Formats: sequence, C-alpha cells, structure tokens
Amino acid sequence: MSKSPIGIFDSGVGGTSIWKEINKQMPYESCIYLADSKNAPYGEKSPREILDLSIKNSELLIAQNCKIIVVACNTATTNAIDYLRQNYPVPFIGIEPAIKPAALNSKSKKVGVLATRGTLTSALFHSTSQNHAAGIEIIERQGKGLVELIEKGDLKSDALKSLLIEFVQPMLDKGIDYLVLGCTHYPYLIPILKELLPEDVLIIDSGEAVARQTMAILKKQKLLSSSVEVGTHQFYTNTGTEVLERFVKTSASEVTTSYLDF
Ligand code: SIN
Repeated sequence: MSKSPIGIFDSGVGGTSIWKEINKQMPYESCIYLADSKNAPYGEKSPREILDLSIKNSELLIAQNCKIIVVACNTATTNAIDYLRQNYPVPFIGIEPAIKPAALNSKSKKVGVLATRGTLTSALFHSTSQNHAAGIEIIERQGKGLVELIEKGDLKSDALKSLLIEFVQPMLDKGIDYLVLGCTHYPYLIPILKELLPEDVLIIDSGEAVARQTMAILKKQKLLSSSVEVGTHQFYTNTGTEVLERFVKTSASEVTTSYLDF
C-alpha cells in the first residue's frame, strides 16, 4: 500500500501550490493530481454542485488506488470534507484558510481573509473563525474573478493588479497586519501582492502546513512510501494542458501532464 500514490484534486491549477509543498517535503512519494479546470471556479457554485464535483474527483482518485486524498481546494474542503471523510475509506486532508496562526500573531487584531464566495459563506469557515479568532476583527473579501485569470495563466496583468487593489485596499484601510490567502490559487499571486502591500503586512497561505499534516497522517497510518527513488507525478486536466504544464514545470521530479475527460 505504501507505494500507492497520494491523490490530490483542485478546481484547476491552483492546488499545484500544495503539490509543490508535498513534493518538497516528501520527494519519495508519487502523486496523481486532478485539475478540474473545466468546472472552475468552484467558488461560484452551489454547495450541492461543489459536493458532487468533490465526490466525482475523489472516486476517480480512489479508483486509481490513491492511499490518501488531499483536497487542495479551500472551496471543496469547506463544503465537502465532512461528507468525504464519512463516506470513503481513505484519509482526507483538507485545506482551510490559516486564520489561527494569523489571529494568534496579529498585533493590530485585524486580519484580512481573501477567499472565494463558496469558502466565505460555508459553515466550516464560520466555525473556524469563531473558534480561532475570538477578539480579532476579520475583514473578508471575495476574490471574484481571480481564479478565472489564474486559470488562464495570468499572474501579472494590469487587470489582475486592479482587482487585487480593489480587494486589499479596504483591508489596509482597516489596519490589517496579516492577509490570509484562503484559496489555493492565490499563492501564485504572492509576488504581485508583495508589490502592493506594505512590508509589515504578512501573507499567510496553508501549503506548508498542509504538506506537514499529510506527512503526519501517512506516518501515523504507516502509509509513507518505502521507495528509495523520487516519486513520479501524473497530472490530469479536463481542458488544455498548456497552463497546467507551466505551473508544474520542475527539474526535480518525473512529471507527466495529460488530458483526461472527467
Ligand atoms: C475556486 O475554484 O473557486 C477556487 C478554489 C479554492 O477555493 O481553493
């Protein structure tokens, strides 16, 4: 079982930010990644649609013998993780906006969260905010339009920059000192965000913590790879492969990118 791959899915190319951390921390693991770009963005869909898409992706990964599934999408996690955990025999790792570390460290007691509508309106997001950010003012903004641009491979156009200014300026006006990225597509915007934010506003994303948690669960369940060779990585997309290829280009691992009708 331990040589079975780690399954990862996202609404598109964004979850590759999580895959990169997984590959960095566990180079001997192989991965199968599903980029459901045909259905992106999940953040504008109904909870029922998000659940159905998450079930479809999970069943495909389980059929490929994946030993664990990383739901590398905040919107899918906040809307479907409980159902997935209750209904399938493999462990699921989810991704929630990293509100806890931001709330613990914020001096201004004001934290910005940029995420999709699907995440910000989910019950799980609200319970996390209540449980981990008591006494903190959370300034939320829906990053409407960002996922669509990133899915096209756009990480630095003027249109993208204008949208980001529109989203973060009200947070800055309120005095945030942490910006939590609550969507796995958004870490690709960190270079441009750094140009827009003052140096004392820190950006937090969940990639490293999620990879650590994945490793901890694999270890606990004795599922870590016993291979002495670096893993292989198969990426599947249900649209063109060109953008995905650009996002996963790496010299360190064996990576293949293919079209799959799913
Ligand atoms: C989306 O598909 O709308 C964004 C994915 C995410 O929430 O991480």
